[in-house]
Amino acid sequence: MDLSLTSEQESFRALAREFLDREAVPHRTRWDREESVDLEIVGKMGELGFFGLTIPTEYGGLGGDYLTYTLAMEELGRADSALRGVVSVSNGLVGKSILGFGTEEQKQRWLPGIAAGTLLGCFGLTEPDTGSDAGNLTSRARRDGTDWVIEGQKLFITNGTWADVALVFARTGGPGPKGVSAFLVPTDSPGFEAREIKGKLGLRGQATAELFLSEVRVPADALLGEEGQGFKIAMTTLDKGRVSVAAGCVGIVAGCLQISVDYARQRTQFGRPIAGFQLVQDMIADISLDADAARLLVWRCADLIDRGEPFSVAASKAKLFASEAAVRAANNAIQVHGGSGYVDEYGAEKYLRDARVMTLYEGTSQIQKLLIGRAETGISAFV
Ligand code: CAA
Repeated sequence: MDLSLTSEQESFRALAREFLDREAVPHRTRWDREESVDLEIVGKMGELGFFGLTIPTEYGGLGGDYLTYTLAMEELGRADSALRGVVSVSNGLVGKSILGFGTEEQKQRWLPGIAAGTLLGCFGLTEPDTGSDAGNLTSRARRDGTDWVIEGQKLFITNGTWADVALVFARTGGPGPKGVSAFLVPTDSPGFEAREIKGKLGLRGQATAELFLSEVRVPADALLGEEGQGFKIAMTTLDKGRVSVAAGCVGIVAGCLQISVDYARQRTQFGRPIAGFQLVQDMIADISLDADAARLLVWRCADLIDRGEPFSVAASKAKLFASEAAVRAANNAIQVHGGSGYVDEYGAEKYLRDARVMTLYEGTSQIQKLLIGRAETGISAFV
């Protein structure tokens, strides 16, 4: 299933697919077992432009539209969601926050490195006691002369131990969303420590960390946007992040379809390929339908973004449907594979383990439903 893509969109997708089939797919099981991708692939992805998509050329990016970005995220999700997360967080959550809210100096300082993949960013919003309720985060930043001094803890931070810059959300004012500000914190600042979280169910190839900020001092120009604008920056950025997660999930569903069809055609039982059995076709049809429906929801978001239209609720719908579809599709893929689906040689179980977090991070399925419900009814369930 395809929209009519431009030749640039087609060629970036083909380039991404060819590169990932060669450089990522053959290694993903080992990376998953070793709990780390080989970091050289980050540099190679930087050279190809994965980290520069939608970042303007004046800041070292490829420019390009959001649809191209979602096509790249789909290819990354199909190949290895751990890699999709590295790109999505650095380019998407951090790069796009700087692009949208940064001063010219902040853009010049950080974007060329992020766009090239030579600098990685992480997004420090979630804390041990505030996940869904992000507006009530408790990390604090106080003024000291012209500096800011930040104190607090962050949890489940993608790229946490690899990042060069952390976008840290901390309270500079009173309670609630309006008291939150955003800071660009170099991770080599004294008092900044990142500890890797091991033993995750999925996304095992990417570094997920806990961040500890103890009296971390940053200059006044580390403030991103206005004082008190942090929550708005986080929410604006997460809208796009949710589209990115959804696109990665389309890749998971597409990957599940591909491996299930390949396996069902070559695996024989009762004297014929299992692809010929109606109950196997039932599962394959469900995966195929999930792939098309999720992809169309994602492409609608990309189209809205590219036309400058509001897309927040469309992003919640895409993220909700695609993440749940990814879990469903991966479960179906395991069922098609039978016992082989239960071991990591065939890829189906990795898709399930990676898919499982997609219904949790960047806003749980329940949060997406409440955002959709609020948009439909005009009544907020959060107050
Ligand atoms: N765009 C722009 N502004 C927005 C916005 C959006 N999408 N959503 C809210 N705002 C603004 C509002 O306009 C409001 O500002 P005003 O008062 O000036 O109008 C302000 O923010 C507060 O808005 P709400 O009243 O909607 O805030 P809330 O407290 O009710 O929000 C919530 C509740 C929707 C549940 C929100 O807290 C939320 O989305 N929570 C989920 C957090 C999340 O997704 N965390 C993911 C962590 S990041 C991660 O996973 C990264 C990783 O490493 C992969």
